[in-house]
Amino acid sequence: MRVLTGIKPTGRPHLGNYLGSIRPAVALSKERETFLFIADLHALTTIRDATELRELVCDVAATWLACGLDPERTVFYRQSDVPEISELNWILACYTGQGLLDRAHAYKAARDTGEEVNVGLYTYPVLMSADILAFDSTHVPVGQDQKQHLEICRDIATRFNHYHGEVLTVPEPIIDDHVAVIPGLDGRKMSKSYGNTIPLFFERQGVKKKIMSIVSDSTPLEEPKDPDSSLVYQLYSMMAPTDRAAEMADKLRAGGYGWGHAKKELVALFHELFEERAKTYDRLMANRGELEEVFAAGAQRARAQAADTLDRVKKALGLL
Ligand code: ADP
Ligand code: TRP
Repeated sequence: MRVLTGIKPTGRPHLGNYLGSIRPAVALSKERETFLFIADLHALTTIRDATELRELVCDVAATWLACGLDPERTVFYRQSDVPEISELNWILACYTGQGLLDRAHAYKAARDTGEEVNVGLYTYPVLMSADILAFDSTHVPVGQDQKQHLEICRDIATRFNHYHGEVLTVPEPIIDDHVAVIPGLDGRKMSKSYGNTIPLFFERQGVKKKIMSIVSDSTPLEEPKDPDSSLVYQLYSMMAPTDRAAEMADKLRAGGYGWGHAKKELVALFHELFEERAKTYDRLMANRGELEEVFAAGAQRARAQAADTLDRVKKALGLL
């Protein structure tokens, strides 16, 4: 079993990313062989500013490393450092029916809302297939929004194999339907697009104020409260170990414990989880040479694997 995941560097990582993506992936990487990469080529479909792209790539990488990703265990690399992926991208494009891409949700959504549709966005699923197939990945954890991309990848691999034999490994999705959607400060899904996020490291100075100003009902302090009625408890229970979450729920139900107290505990828990990690994050952000070394070592391992696959593919095609 080889698990592979890509992270698109299009925003500063927030608590929703941590709970929904980073924490489970880091846990999985302790049990399985894992490939994890920063999908900077995919980000080019939207990002036009060099400084912004560089910052986001570093921020995402520093965040994952600070949150416990071990680059010795996990093959951790930057997509653009592995040119074999782009080479495979072209080959796979020649095995991709246009109809398959015409039906892709992400492209259709952009087209329907009048956003710019560049060919990169249109062929996004092909590059994603190259990401996956270059490493003989057997399993790809994806959210609902990426499910169709994985189906396209399976179609492309199956079509290639139909002509050339079992050259490519057809991957299985791991779709975790029960990963909770983390609510943002306004109660909607926490997302950079809604501006309702709790940042993990970048601009973390504002976190206390953001948490303290979460709107809560005006039940008097001494009255019992319904834990689930408030965002404060929802966030706390998603971050804390089960027994600590149960303790807070009991205190709220018992009365004599206010939302202000709960908010303070939430702030304290945030610090407990991220204060030490922030030091690692700050060090990596201040010392880009260290990050570059991690990327270089990862690219070396990734390229060796991708070159093997490409060799097999080229032999099958008659290019070698
Ligand atoms: P955003 O919604 O801020 O644009 P992304 O779509 O870039 O976030 O999400 C990257 C990863 O983080 C995805 O794997 C997604 O599952 C996870 N994620 C993002 N926001 C949340 C959330 N509110 N709850 C759970 N997981 C989330
Ligand atoms: N498309 C994914 C996203 O938007 C990122 C990604 C790129 C990816 N290549 C991948 C995810 C390969 C899994 C496997 O989140």
